[in-house]
Order: sequence, then structure tokens, then C-alpha cells
Amino acid sequence: MANGSHDVHLNLNVRGLPVSATLGINEESNRLLAQGRTIYKLGLGQSPFPVPDPVVRELQNNAHQKDYLPVRGLPALCDAVAGYYWRTQSLPISADNVLIGPGSKELMFLLQLVYYGDLVIPTPSWVSYAPQAHIVGRHVYWLETDEQNNWLLMPEELEKLCQADPDRPRIVILNYPNNPTGCTYSADQLEALATVARRNRVILLADEIYGELTFSGTHRSIAHYYPEGTIIASGLSKWAGAGGWRLGTFAFPAELKWLLEAMAAVASETFTATSAPIQYAAVRAFQGGAKIESYLCHSRRILKSLTRWGHARLTRAGVNVARPDGAFYMLPDFESLRSRLEQRGISHSAELCRKLLQDTGVAMLPGSSFGRPDRELTARIALVDFDGARALSAAEQQACDQPLPENFLPLYCERVVEALEQLCEWLE
Ligand SMILES: Cc1ncc(COP(=O)(O)O)c(C=O)c1O
Repeated sequence: MANGSHDVHLNLNVRGLPVSATLGINEESNRLLAQGRTIYKLGLGQSPFPVPDPVVRELQNNAHQKDYLPVRGLPALCDAVAGYYWRTQSLPISADNVLIGPGSKELMFLLQLVYYGDLVIPTPSWVSYAPQAHIVGRHVYWLETDEQNNWLLMPEELEKLCQADPDRPRIVILNYPNNPTGCTYSADQLEALATVARRNRVILLADEIYGELTFSGTHRSIAHYYPEGTIIASGLSKWAGAGGWRLGTFAFPAELKWLLEAMAAVASETFTATSAPIQYAAVRAFQGGAKIESYLCHSRRILKSLTRWGHARLTRAGVNVARPDGAFYMLPDFESLRSRLEQRGISHSAELCRKLLQDTGVAMLPGSSFGRPDRELTARIALVDFDGARALSAAEQQACDQPLPENFLPLYCERVVEALEQLCEWLE
């Protein structure tokens, strides 16, 4: 100790670890906002929609719940989660095999901590999987994908990695609809991936946190094809607009119960249990019903219309971008405009995002944060900077199967429309 301050003794795995990229861009945007600049927040992946009314009411009714709950979760919530999988997808999950945590992110961290194996993820992938593996000292293997295939993982890539060293224990994370691309897998593609996963005995973590936001309303889990080896991750953060409530769910097959038990043991020594009022309210969310169905239907309708428009607008500006099937993201590739951008001193994705934010106030995240090569000119756009409550109540004036009026997006998602117009003009 020198001059009354502490020497720095950080675990090697966290030394130099930056704050999560999504939070970093938010802080930079807030700094510019404080200077009076107009900022379009297309960086942070937060749902624009409010928590559904019946779920909010249930939270109010349960504000008095003050006892510690069982570490695995409130039994009524585990039942509701199991019931939800049966009702929506005919998946036979037992309530005993459901684990509740303070966000699915925390559960993913626990899984990586308790399971001794490599982490295998496609590139691009969500920002936190690899840092979590790094913190607990696991190897990370990135699997290549191809923009021509909508950045989806092809079974041959997984097979190649597994065959190179067949006996290594591995967790493969598959996220669909995907953050950062918005793309998802067809039933045939899931089946082909499941076949390879089973043959190689990998553990699949199906990150289906955006499942309910599949625009067609027909999300299908890979657990249908590889039930004994798949853990399904979900929670309230994306489809119920409740990211800040911090509630995540893992659904295990009976064959992997030992993992649930190990995670629960660690949970009991760390966060103890998830917030009681939030768990009581979450029961209502997973029970579903007409009001929640309508909320989801209109949420999907708005997001589909907005991403369709955004996709068309960027394509018209000469940018390559895969068309999203769900969620609220897109991963445009600005490579076709490289020479124009290089004349302005921009040759990689972080520079692209920094310069765009400075010049136009549009915040997006560089593809490098998602495991894409530094020099590639990809970036993630989160189409979420609009008042979701206002947009939802306007959309609800019509039947959900009707197309939204033509002026809906400029009227109710005006900041996103403005931001993409600014981006396209800036590219010219
Ligand atoms: C792909 C993906 N998985 C998991 C999470 C974590 O969600 P939560 O911890 O709020 O459940 C997020 C949040 O951004 C995400 O985008």
C-alpha cells in the first residue's frame, strides 16, 4: 500500500477487461447528450416497449413480497415457465428442470463457471459470451459464418471443429433470432445443426431470448431436435420489455439436471435468489393470455415493419444487409462503400462508428464488438430509439393482421427513421 491507497491486485482474467461494449456506447452517447447534442440511440439493445400492463399490475400487487425465495426460483414461476414451453411449442419441460436467475446473462455466466469445457460461438455473436468465458478462463472458439448465408452457422463448420479434437467437452451457443443480425434458422437448418451437435455430444445453449419476437410468430426451438443436450435460455428482458427487472430463465433436459444443480449451488453462495416481487410478476407474463398475445402481436408488427423499411433504405443506399426475421437488430456491411469511407480516414468498424456518432449523433456498435474482424466495415444497428408505449397504443387501434398505415413509421418511429436517413446521407 502506498500513500494510503491500495495496490492493484486484479485477477489476471479480468485485468484490462473493458466495460461491456453496449454499455460503453451508451455512456459516450450520454456524454454527448449532456453537451446538448441530438443523439440517436441505436447502440444499446433495449426493448422500446413498456412491460405489459397485466404484468406491471402483478408487480404492484406483489411489492410486499419480502422473503428470500428458493434458489432455483419461485415454484409457481417454474411451473409457469414449463407451462409456457408446453403451450407455445409443445416442449415437455419439467418445472423441476427450470432455473430462474437475475437475468439470463448471469445464468450464462454460472453455466460457463460450472461446466469445464470450451465455449464455441459463431461470429458474429452477442457481446458478452466471449468475455464471460475469458473471465472464468475458458477457451473460446469462433466459428466462421458467411454473409451470403445471413451469417447463420452452417453444420459443416461445427462438424469440422468437433472432428479436429473429438473428445473435448464443449458448449455451443446458438442465438436466434440473432443479436446482432436479426436472422433466424429454419426448422431444417436447426435439425441439421442438432444432428451434428448430438453426434459430437456437445451441450447446446439455445439463447432464445428473442424467440417471441420472431416476426412470423412461429419461433421453433432446436430443443425439438436435440432435447437431451439442449438448454433453452430466455427471460423477460426482450419480449416483455423488462430488461431492467432482471429476470432470466434456463430450461434443462432431465439429462443435464446435474448442471442445474451445480449452478444452483453457486447461485446459493452468490445472488441467493432472484428478486421476489419480480418473480411473482413474471408468473403472469409466462401464463400468457389474450392481453399478452395482443401485446406481442403488435410488437412484432411494428418491429417487422420498421426492420423491413430499414433494410430497404440501407439497400437503396448501396449497403449490404441481411433482412431480419425477428428482434430489433440489423448488421449492415459497408464494405461496398469502402473506398469512399477510406477517403474520409475510415478503414475499420470502430472508426466508422466513432465518426458517425461525432458527425451525425447516430450511435451504433462496431461489428468488432461481436467478434467480426477489426477491419471489416460491419456495424450493428438497434432500431429501438422510439417511444414504444406510444407506438403500441397507435398500432392497437387496428387489428393486428392489418398492415400498418403508410405514415406509421414517420409518425411513431420518427427518431429511427431520421437516424437512418442521416446515416444514408452521411454515406453519400
Ligand atoms: C442475445 C442475448 N442474450 C442474452 C441477453 C441477456 O439478457 P438478460 O440478461 O437481460 O436476460 C441479451 C441482452 O442483451 C442478448 O442480446
